Amino acid sequence: QVKNLEKQFEERIARDEKIEPKDWMPEKYRQTHIRQMSQHAHSEIVGMLPEGNWITRAPSLRRKVALLAKVQDEAGHGLYLYSACETLGISRDELYEQLHSGKAKYSSIFNYPTVTWADMGAIGWLVDGAAIINQVPLCNTSFGPYARAMVRVCKEESFHQRQGYEIMIKLMNGTQEQKDMAQDALNRWWWPSLMMLGPTDAESVHTEQSMKWKLKRKSNDDLRQQFIDQTVPQADLIGLVIPDPDLKWNEERGSHDFGEINWDEFWQVVKGHGPMNKERMKARVGAWEGGEWVRDAAMAYSEKQQERKEK
Ligand code: ACO
Repeated sequence: QVKNLEKQFEERIARDEKIEPKDWMPEKYRQTHIRQMSQHAHSEIVGMLPEGNWITRAPSLRRKVALLAKVQDEAGHGLYLYSACETLGISRDELYEQLHSGKAKYSSIFNYPTVTWADMGAIGWLVDGAAIINQVPLCNTSFGPYARAMVRVCKEESFHQRQGYEIMIKLMNGTQEQKDMAQDALNRWWWPSLMMLGPTDAESVHTEQSMKWKLKRKSNDDLRQQFIDQTVPQADLIGLVIPDPDLKWNEERGSHDFGEINWDEFWQVVKGHGPMNKERMKARVGAWEGGEWVRDAAMAYSEKQQERKEK
């Protein structure tokens, strides 16, 4: 019986049909989706922190409005993704517990500090740029709720990327001090942005299976190459220098060759030893605990409403 269901499932994947929450699916497929989608949701929520840090210090009202909207979008992305994840039979409380206890991973990129305004430009341009490259293929992923969530998420990421690049353009048209600030931000965010797309294909434990299930449609290395090839001309156009002496166009491959990524740094950050891991977790746990009275009040209100209805 199970063999038969498995066969039908594989056939549906081969036909590019979407798998929906109530459909039969192998337990491993369910677990893998909970893992990836919850890590993605946590990344969106933790990802609000580095930029949230600059909302009160944005250099103009217009910049403040755009940044505020972007950070709110990230909250929205996190909430869709948690909801999509709940359709697989895990509760929101369990998901939060996994994040707050340090059991769940979230993207390495959000464990770096945002020290100048130019970091808002670099994050939008590079981090959201890498996120789009990673997430456009996910619009075509096999699990229906994840694929549908990604369509809207990608549209919003596109606005985020543009607002970041526009900050960089503005700085690069400014004073020498502003240009230096933009270059410094690129120097600090370039390598972590490359790492964000995950370990090399050789080191990626999940890629093979996730590609078979059409959860992943492109490998980490392919996405990284695409990100580099897309971003280098954007840097050139505004006079920024990519901080990689080995970066050069390879005519034969029709792609850029690039230098060695510091994978030790990546794994240190993933294991919780990055520059801001502790602060990020402290902020999330603090927000959860600080919001307890609101959750209690909402529950008490809803119970009272229910009691009234029953009377
Ligand atoms: N930061 C933290 N952990 C990472 C990262 C990263 N940048 N990249 C990979 N890892 C972890 C994986 O989660 C996995 O750990 P696990 O087994 O405990 O879950 C391990 O490293 C090995 O990596 P892979 O086998 O390559 O994992 P996977 O196939 O899941 O690929 C990837 C990683 C590309 C990030 C994939 O999960 C994905 O596409 N996720 C959805 C997008 C996403 O989460 N983006 C987050 C940032 S975007 C944003 O929020 C703006």
